[in-house]
Amino acid sequence: MTARILDGKSLAMQIRKEIAAEVVTLIEQRGIVPCLAAVLVGDDPASHVYVRNKEIACEKAGLQSRLFRMPATTTTSELLELLAQLNSDAKIHGILVQLPLPKQINERKVLDAVLPAKDVDAFAPENVGLISQGRPRFLPCTPHGVLQLLGRCEIETAGKEVVVVGRSDIVGKPLVSMFLQKTGPLGPTNANATVTCCHSQSTDLAEITRRADILVVAIGKANFITADMVRPGAVVIDVGINRLGDKIVGDVDFEAVSQVAGAITPVPGGIGPLTIAMLLQNTLAAAKSVQAQPQA
Ligand code: GUN
Repeated sequence: MTARILDGKSLAMQIRKEIAAEVVTLIEQRGIVPCLAAVLVGDDPASHVYVRNKEIACEKAGLQSRLFRMPATTTTSELLELLAQLNSDAKIHGILVQLPLPKQINERKVLDAVLPAKDVDAFAPENVGLISQGRPRFLPCTPHGVLQLLGRCEIETAGKEVVVVGRSDIVGKPLVSMFLQKTGPLGPTNANATVTCCHSQSTDLAEITRRADILVVAIGKANFITADMVRPGAVVIDVGINRLGDKIVGDVDFEAVSQVAGAITPVPGGIGPLTIAMLLQNTLAAAKSVQAQPQA
C-alpha cells in the first residue's frame, strides 16, 4: 500500500486566503488592522526561522506583525515588563512569546502574564481551562492545525481510536483534550474520538500505537515511529520537526510508514504550515473581539 499524502501546505494556503478576505472586511467595516506582537528572546536559530515565517505569513494575509527581540541575557522581570506594555497596548491584538526561552527565565511566570484575551498560543491557564471545558476562546495552533487537516481532508474522528504520542503542554495534552470534546472546530465529526495518550513512560508503545485508526506523533525524536508500529491503513499525522544532518525530518519514518499507512502527512509540508495559518486565525479572532469604542 502507498499512503495518501495529506498536503498541509496547500490546505494552509487555502485557509490563509480565507483569513486574508476576512481581514479586508474587518478593516473596511471597523477600521481594525489585526496586529500580532512576536517576542523573541535569545539566539536560537530555529526560533528565529519560525518567527520570521510567522511574520511573513501575517504580512501576506494583511495582518500587521511587530517583532520584539530581546538578548539571551534577559531576565524574567524584564520580559514581564515588556508583556505588561504589550498587554495594555490597544493596537496589539495577539501576543506570542516564542519558546523555548533561555534557561534563566521562568517560563511559567511569563506565559501566565500574557493577557488571556491576547493569548493567541492558548498557553495561559484560563485558556487551557476553557479548552478543557469545551468552550475555547482560542485553540492552540498546532493541535488546531491537526484537526483542521483531518476535517478538511474528510477524515472523521468521531468514534475512532486516536492515539497521541507525546504529552507536551503545546501539542499532546491540548490535542487529547480537543479530540475528547463533543464537538470540534469543524463540528462533531471533528471530535468525539476514543483517545489514548502515550509518552516516555508508557510500556509496550508499539502495541498501543498499532491500535490507532489515527496516530498523531509529537515527541520530537527523528524517525521514531517505524512501520511495525502502525496498523495497515491507519492515518498518521506527524507533528515532529527534527534536523537530521542537513535535512528536516519528522517523528515518523516517512519512507517505511507510507508503505503501511492509509494516509500520512509529510515533513516538511504537513502540519507546520497549518500551525502558522491557525496563528493568523487566532490573531484575527482576537482583533474581531475588540469591543467598539463608544463615540465621544
Ligand atoms: N515553540 C514551538 N512551538 C511553539 C508554538 O506553538 N508557540 C510558541 N510560542 N513557541 C513555540
